[in-house]
Amino acid sequence: MKSFFHVQDIGNLDAALEEALEVKKNPFAWKHLGIDKTIILVFFNNSLRTRLSSQKAALNLGMNPIVLNVNGDSWKLETEMGVVMDGDKSEHLREAIPVIGSFCDIIGVRSFAGLTDREKDYGEEILRQFIDYSGRPVISLESATVHPCQAFADLITIEEHKERKRPKVVMTWAPHPRALPQAVPNSFAEWMNAADVDFVITHPEGYELDPRFVGDAEVEYDQMKALEGADFVYAKNWSCPGVSLPEEYGKVLSKDMGWTVDAKHMAVTNNAQFLHCLPVRRNMIVSDEVIDSPRSLVIPEAANRVVSAQVVMKRMLESL
Ligand code: CP
Repeated sequence: MKSFFHVQDIGNLDAALEEALEVKKNPFAWKHLGIDKTIILVFFNNSLRTRLSSQKAALNLGMNPIVLNVNGDSWKLETEMGVVMDGDKSEHLREAIPVIGSFCDIIGVRSFAGLTDREKDYGEEILRQFIDYSGRPVISLESATVHPCQAFADLITIEEHKERKRPKVVMTWAPHPRALPQAVPNSFAEWMNAADVDFVITHPEGYELDPRFVGDAEVEYDQMKALEGADFVYAKNWSCPGVSLPEEYGKVLSKDMGWTVDAKHMAVTNNAQFLHCLPVRRNMIVSDEVIDSPRSLVIPEAANRVVSAQVVMKRMLESL
């Protein structure tokens, strides 16, 4: 595996899920693969789960993980080509990336969308530069438009907890005080479309996701109707993707608390289990009673971040 970005990169999903469950059962069985190998995890943005789960996955595989917090530990990095570097950024990505590549075998990158320039974000400019200039396999640890390690962990969690062969999975937009990227819902949609589930997306008008990720999923603007009979409810906020409203790209269009997932919403489901990638704003995205209920899977879902990262790193080590 040369890069991990889209669902297609993992190949056959059934095989990937089987491998994930094997890795979960025997996390140290492939420790020999990572001996004398190094992974550098580059963070342009904050993280709790991705930072820790990626390091744990690397350690389980016998690798040495090194974390670089850009703009914290390192020089501030310029990401645009052709600029006169007379500001506070001391080094360009064009040099930094091959230098990082020369110190390691695999690279992971977290670089959020700027949410001001749709073309730039959806062109994945920073991640692309890592792929083009590092000479190393690259893992998206949530880049501008995708968060594949999260979506893979979500799918593993659904596979482990489903109570019927083909569950109904509903991804619902929920309110948040700040503008958030679309990477998590984009990847979740992409992975659910590839999985053996009935997938429905619900959000207020204006929040239409990029058609490349929505695919053939059912989109229902009536949240309660969408949730009827759901086996899994996946809540997430995202800012305006700029599909139906290009001039509103990256903006907060609604803070309608009627979309907060609470007991009234869960009551119309098929006793659904609740998922969220975390971090979550309680009583904005989801009520305390729902996230604290026995049907909430947010902690096992987060724990599966080690498993998804480990499968990806294992496959990369196997193909070095
Ligand atoms: N879900 C997730 O990616 O969490 P972090 O932002 O804390 O890494």
